[in-house]
Amino acid sequence: MKKDQIRKGRLAGERSRQVLRYLSSMEADRWIGEADILVDMAHLVMLHHQKLMTPEYTRALLRVLLQLHEDGLPDQVFDEQFEDIHAGLEAYLMERAGEDAGGRIHMGRSRNDEVSTCLRIRLREDLLRSMDSLVRLREVLFTLAEAHRDAVMPGYTHLQPAQPTTLPHHLLAYEQALGRDFDRFRAAFHHVNLSPLGAAAFASTGYPVDREMTARLLGFDQVLSNSMDAVASRDFVLETLSAGAILMTVLSRLAEDLILWSTPAFGFVSLDDAFCSSSSIMPQKKNPDTLEILRAKAGTAQGALAGALAIVKGLPMSYNRDLQEVTPHLWRGISAVMESTDLLTRILQGATFDEKRMAQEAARGFSTATDLADMLVRSHNLPFRTAHTIVGRAVRRGSLDLRVLEAAAQEVAGISLVQRGVTADEVAVALDVPTAIASRKAAGGPAPDAIIRSIRERRRIHRQDSAWVVSQEKAIQEALSQLLADARELVA
Ligand code: ARG
Repeated sequence: MKKDQIRKGRLAGERSRQVLRYLSSMEADRWIGEADILVDMAHLVMLHHQKLMTPEYTRALLRVLLQLHEDGLPDQVFDEQFEDIHAGLEAYLMERAGEDAGGRIHMGRSRNDEVSTCLRIRLREDLLRSMDSLVRLREVLFTLAEAHRDAVMPGYTHLQPAQPTTLPHHLLAYEQALGRDFDRFRAAFHHVNLSPLGAAAFASTGYPVDREMTARLLGFDQVLSNSMDAVASRDFVLETLSAGAILMTVLSRLAEDLILWSTPAFGFVSLDDAFCSSSSIMPQKKNPDTLEILRAKAGTAQGALAGALAIVKGLPMSYNRDLQEVTPHLWRGISAVMESTDLLTRILQGATFDEKRMAQEAARGFSTATDLADMLVRSHNLPFRTAHTIVGRAVRRGSLDLRVLEAAAQEVAGISLVQRGVTADEVAVALDVPTAIASRKAAGGPAPDAIIRSIRERRRIHRQDSAWVVSQEKAIQEALSQLLADARELVA
């Protein structure tokens, strides 16, 4: 196969294997090989339409490209003697369609607009896949919330027992957060799905290219107009990685909750063995390794963002080769997102929650002390701070019996609860966990009625999000099918 065609005019001599490897983006370019075929096709169809390419050359080149699309790219185009897939593919076209035809495909464009177009085509696909996974993960959270609608559990602040809540309340907290992650991905998608093609090296081109046409053929929402910005910017990568890093942070917290809950000390959840490992020395061990790796992948995603930001910072206009080094960070970050979202969905689907254990723990640690203080305020007109101090002192004494509460009231406030009409029954009711939860029925609370309303409201948003993903996938599919149909027609 032809050697790198690009340097032979201007530069003399050969570069060492070491330099070639160092410069080549081939490894990361495996992500954009398929996209590069589509970009070549759209460019050719446009050149033909603009009468910049004869029907014969168009046919010869499209025939090879359609074949590649069918069979996949051969290994030779990924040879690291080439700087990148664009050079590899051009050399392949020259070999297969002849130098006269192959040598014409690159008119009116540069690898600078080409690579950004390829990145955007692949990335929008990965973004939609990530959003689809997010939709599925949220669906599992709804399903679990519905299956355990009344399951009482302890709620924590500072990881200390705070107030009782319910499992659906906890799960819906994550669903709501993931809904915002979905929004951030959708916002990133709008900045990704723009076409830089036709910007050429940065300065636009004297050929009468039709940028609207290539954008439409490739399923982009719009042309990314200014030709310098089109090749120089990678904020679409930074935005994606930022949304990804934030999402991964949320997932890592859910993973951490599950890790804690699966310890014998908590005993709230049992994970499917399929996601656990054992120990090489301790035969009894069941370790939640998949969740631990997931928790760590959040760090990988953050590192990808930090790496990409550091590379782009301070670069002069317009294209600089440094940008090539951003790309592996992109694939590392988005892979972490796609794999982790999907796995967490499966882990949750395979998890078994122990409602009895959670209920046992829910009452521990004076978890309804706040409700008792609230009762003293509501039914006996104490200032909240006084009630709070009395109950706190009784907890210090180790009991919330009326006898201990009465002593505490005398001690800290010089008042008698009994004289104010507080009864032991009232205290018992205030401390009852299900009663406490049922009372918290304001919007977004854990009371069963509030949960039902939350699920209804959140499911409505979830349906819209899901429909949006399907409509975007459909629009892109339709555009690309049309592109292939146009190409086949020109070849026929
Ligand atoms: N491999 C390059 C990248 O990923 C493609 C663009 C190369 N452009 C250039 N002028 N060397 O950014």
